[in-house]
Amino acid sequence: MAEQAGNLTFGIIKPDAVRAGRTGAVLQRVLDAGFRLRAMKLIHLTRREAEGFYEVHRERPFFGELTAFMSSGPCVVLALEKEGAVRAWRDLMGATDPAKADEGTLRKEFASSIGENAVHGSDSEENAQIELAYFFSRLEFV
Ligand code: CMP
Repeated sequence: MAEQAGNLTFGIIKPDAVRAGRTGAVLQRVLDAGFRLRAMKLIHLTRREAEGFYEVHRERPFFGELTAFMSSGPCVVLALEKEGAVRAWRDLMGATDPAKADEGTLRKEFASSIGENAVHGSDSEENAQIELAYFFSRLEFV
């Protein structure tokens, strides 16, 4: 994947959006925005797996709430390809807090709070590679 690192990012359709039946609607928005799906699966994280994924936030006051929420139901993990994918996916998601998200963004449309904010995206190309490797094996990429 290294040769395409700049064009790949990692995304999650979080348990709130899946529970609300919005998986298809979010995926349609992803495809309409020109992303290509390179890998995708429906998973239900254990608490420990969620803690591992969000390890960098362990000392934050919201860590317990965040990992309980992320392990509260199924989510969809995505490998997304597009030129400038990290930035493009963050732009499509909108601000972390949906109250601050711009019109037309996924969080404006689908998120209810800063904690239950519908989608996740990597914040850098380096973290995209780390996060993709946390969820997908090489064989799962098409
Ligand atoms: P995400 O992009 O998945 O990365 C870290 C997550 O922590 C973030 O989305 C939010 O869902 C969550 N988060 C950030 N700040 C807060 C907060 N103040 N309270 C609860 N959750 C938060």
